[in-house]
Amino acid sequence: MCGIVGYVGEREALPIILKALKRIEYRGYDSCGVLVQNQGEMMGHKEVGAIDCLISSLSKSGYEGKIAIGHSRWATHGAPTVTNAHPHLDCNGEIAVVHNGIIENYQSIKEGVLCDCIFQSETDTEVIPHLINICLKSKLSPTELHSGELNAMQVKEAVKEALSYLRGSYAILVAVKGFDGLVAARKESPLIVGVGDREFFVASDVPAVLNQTNRIIFLEEEDLVVVEKDSIYIENGGSEVKREESLIEWTIEDAEKGGYEHFMLKEIHEEPKAIRDTLMGYLTEGRINLGLDFIVDAESILLVACGTSYYAALCGKYIIENLAKIPVRIEVASEFNYSDFVLDGSKVVAMAITQSGETADTLTALKKAKGYGCKTVAITNVLGSSATRLADETIYSRAGPEIGVAATKSFITQLTIFYLLGLFLSKMPASVFAEHINELKRMPQIAQRVLDEVNIQKHARYLSKYEHTFFVGRGINLPISLEGALKLKEISYIHAEGYAAGELKHGPFALLTEDTPVIAILTRDDIYEKTLGNVKEIKARGSPVIAIAEEDDEEVEKYVDDVIRVPRTSALFSPIPNTVALHLLAYWTAKERGCEIDKPRNLAKSVTVE
Ligand code: AGP
Repeated sequence: MCGIVGYVGEREALPIILKALKRIEYRGYDSCGVLVQNQGEMMGHKEVGAIDCLISSLSKSGYEGKIAIGHSRWATHGAPTVTNAHPHLDCNGEIAVVHNGIIENYQSIKEGVLCDCIFQSETDTEVIPHLINICLKSKLSPTELHSGELNAMQVKEAVKEALSYLRGSYAILVAVKGFDGLVAARKESPLIVGVGDREFFVASDVPAVLNQTNRIIFLEEEDLVVVEKDSIYIENGGSEVKREESLIEWTIEDAEKGGYEHFMLKEIHEEPKAIRDTLMGYLTEGRINLGLDFIVDAESILLVACGTSYYAALCGKYIIENLAKIPVRIEVASEFNYSDFVLDGSKVVAMAITQSGETADTLTALKKAKGYGCKTVAITNVLGSSATRLADETIYSRAGPEIGVAATKSFITQLTIFYLLGLFLSKMPASVFAEHINELKRMPQIAQRVLDEVNIQKHARYLSKYEHTFFVGRGINLPISLEGALKLKEISYIHAEGYAAGELKHGPFALLTEDTPVIAILTRDDIYEKTLGNVKEIKARGSPVIAIAEEDDEEVEKYVDDVIRVPRTSALFSPIPNTVALHLLAYWTAKERGCEIDKPRNLAKSVTVE
């Protein structure tokens, strides 16, 4: 995700800002930029690519000033180009903004209140400096506006009014010509203030400033803050508020993980936000806009992928066929590429699901599908990745950078896209559609409840003692049991097999002993009794069974050894809470076993070889 940094104080700002940007490189980005303000001069520079390019381009810039803002961009709206890089300025070049988040209603703002403005970029962010400009002009006389001396309250009020137009998420920093300070604000995107001696640092998160100060103010939801070199003013809901300083004892590496021990745990805890951000990108006022109008003519869909993305595709098959009644064929990319696959692609849309957008097998499958004449779509988490350049269209998951080798939040955002796609293609009555949309919009909270309420550690301590285990499920939760098994084996090195619950009796029963615990997904659906029957068969062979079941299911505990309780949802949406629970189970089991977790042996985050 994007990173923003700002400085105001007694020292030269540019070197401080560039160092801060270097320290948040781990967040992932594709372009970057800075703006230095000095005596009313606004000096900026932007680059596509690494921050080191920015540093070398600016090494002889002579940009001097004690106020600066900077940005590392993880593109969501608009390709990674210099024009789309931040900071973005108003038409007079006197207001500069850097932003992390997604402005959901930027198009309607451009067509409405900003219809007379000329925009340089494709970004959502660029509406913000233009809004601040018209709000300043509405509050100040031309003399005041061009006096070259604006005060904190004038600027703060204009920024506050501009923010009232926005819907979506933001963490912003604003520099205004003639004002010797910075204004910042946050909504659903993190923002912190580092406190120094007659200087302040503002940033997306702690690593950016930890080399300068460990006195940190964690801004709260909808805080608006004004920093000048000698003062800080924080407001929320129109009234001044006081926010405590925290003294951070983290190391830099700890800080990059947001205080979590591993990136994987941080990324599992980001799953609710990843779902929300992905929904925000494609769901507006109950309407789904995936930009894939051609897909409505498809007679069938072909999904190709590898690993965890393949399990997302398997789940996607259940989702799309349930919602849209369109046949979906799934192929493991590495098999599809060398099969005598017969396909008339003229009425088939082929979709490649790949978090990295660089998986060689999946890219080959994409090319093969094009060869059959399919319209192709990439579902990926990385803007500008190879898959996006190969496919006719792209749907971006908005999970943000995923550092842990084991896919977690990217997987759950792939599922989110399949729910959107299935609903987009469905022909259900409007009332039923609205019910599904409402349940989909509740998924971030459902995921958050699993994180907050499920005591997974005790099950992990139990499971960590075993070397062999099965994960079983049926229907839409079969892919989730396969994913749960993959996650566990990847990072805990326990041999875990995902299996259709109804299939164990056709062979794997031979492996069942008291030393092969079985994790059974038993959230209620129309084959719950069947699955419960399978679990009874498993129990009869002496294997311990831990069920994943709904919080209000009083039946299940009679037949299993333990239960991981998840919030109740409809059967269709049960993969969401079940996935979060299984990702947590894999993580804590691996932690119990003292495994490496973020970088498991023999594995890579992106498998760019066939
Ligand atoms: C998932 O935890 C693994 N890291 C691996 O199976 C991964 O899903 C697979 O390599 C596909 O990667 P992609 O989504 O980037 O194409």
